[in-house]
Amino acid sequence: MATESPIGIHDLSFATTEFVLSHEELAAYNGTEIGKYHVGIGQRSMSVPAADEDIVTLGAAAAAPIVARHGSDRIRTVVFATESSIDQAKSAGVYVHSLLGLPSACRVVELKQACYGATAALQFAIGLVRRDPSQQVLVVASDVSKYALDSPGEATQGAAAVAMLVAADPALVRIEDPSGVFTADVMDFWRPNYLSTALVDGQESISAYLQAVEGTWKDYSEQGGRPLEDFAAFCYHQPFTKMAYKAHRHLLNYCGRDTDKDVIESDLGRTTAYNAVIGNSYTASVYLGLAALLDQAEDLTERAVGFLSYGSGSVAEFFAGTVVPGYKEHLRTDANREAIDRRKPVDYAGYRELHEHSFPTDGSDQANPAQTSGPFRLAGISDHKRLYETR
Ligand code: HMG
Repeated sequence: MATESPIGIHDLSFATTEFVLSHEELAAYNGTEIGKYHVGIGQRSMSVPAADEDIVTLGAAAAAPIVARHGSDRIRTVVFATESSIDQAKSAGVYVHSLLGLPSACRVVELKQACYGATAALQFAIGLVRRDPSQQVLVVASDVSKYALDSPGEATQGAAAVAMLVAADPALVRIEDPSGVFTADVMDFWRPNYLSTALVDGQESISAYLQAVEGTWKDYSEQGGRPLEDFAAFCYHQPFTKMAYKAHRHLLNYCGRDTDKDVIESDLGRTTAYNAVIGNSYTASVYLGLAALLDQAEDLTERAVGFLSYGSGSVAEFFAGTVVPGYKEHLRTDANREAIDRRKPVDYAGYRELHEHSFPTDGSDQANPAQTSGPFRLAGISDHKRLYETR
């Protein structure tokens, strides 16, 4: 019997916003002791979208370098994962497909389950590639995390998009079977259709996340997954970077292991650099953790990485990936740093204005100020239609 080709992440690229708000600036406005942000939740700054940026412009900006490097001939599916959807019917991925000039012989769909959506997209992509290993799937995870001004969640906002090319014989990470999966009907975080900001029960959300860590690991082990000692590092969903530390400590405790600070730091420390300065990017978050790990770690060739993807509501999955020999030659470390460093600082007043920016809901026309220097922009809205431009 022929051996199946390994399938996984062949390329990974991310984009974030035009603006950045530092937590010092937020703390100076609301009187919070800065240690609560820097140490308590582990966040330094948050990405803030310009008035002419949204999940489509971010998603297209993340995916464009992948299409430039690999071409689009083999991409027959685009899966767009988001929980900051812009339309109830049309997939945001169709706009991205058009902005990137992808072939019309392509299926495009949007997936939703809070921050877990991108992992569902990755797993579904693997299934498609397994059926026909000559095909590639473009997975785009793009989100803008927005909480009410002056709410406890405000300090955890952020925005980014990660694009991943899923293929046979991947250049970066082979994704393994089995997965440990977990679902529980909880109201820890949600956003009804009529609200632009999320609702959250902060403490309940932390408990629900920890319950999901236990649930996924239990199932992963029962399905015959690797023992804990096999993993060189763990990429967790990072709504704020301290949450990854809480989750990992919880997992180690659950497995009866030592929760020594140095062990936890060595398991996680290299996965938080991008999330700490970008903030919560929902679906993209766990894969920004992977980008930071690959960009910063010593050689991880043939080492196993554990992934814990959590989406409120809640659905979670634990799975493993093995880093592929030669992966360092395919990383985008300089571009990743540039995506972060190019952001322009905004002061609190500027951030507040952007936070309150909205579109007409009566079909009238609105032109957006030209703020972004990114490759794509949302020029405005007319007759209830979003108008995108390539720069
Ligand atoms: P809060 O009430 O502002 O903060 O809410 P707190 O009082 O809980 O303090 C936070 C931490 O800072 C605590 O540490 C304090 O001790 C510490 P902990 O006890 O947790 O280890 N602290 C300090 N440390 C150093 N120096 C100081 C200081 N002061 C306090 N001076 C909360 C925090 C995270 C609840 C809030 O920001 C929130 O509601 N965030 C949004 C919800 C969230 O991110 N939940 C995470 C799990 S759910 C999830 O991950 C899914 C999600 O991404 C959505 C999706 O799936 O779609 C959210």
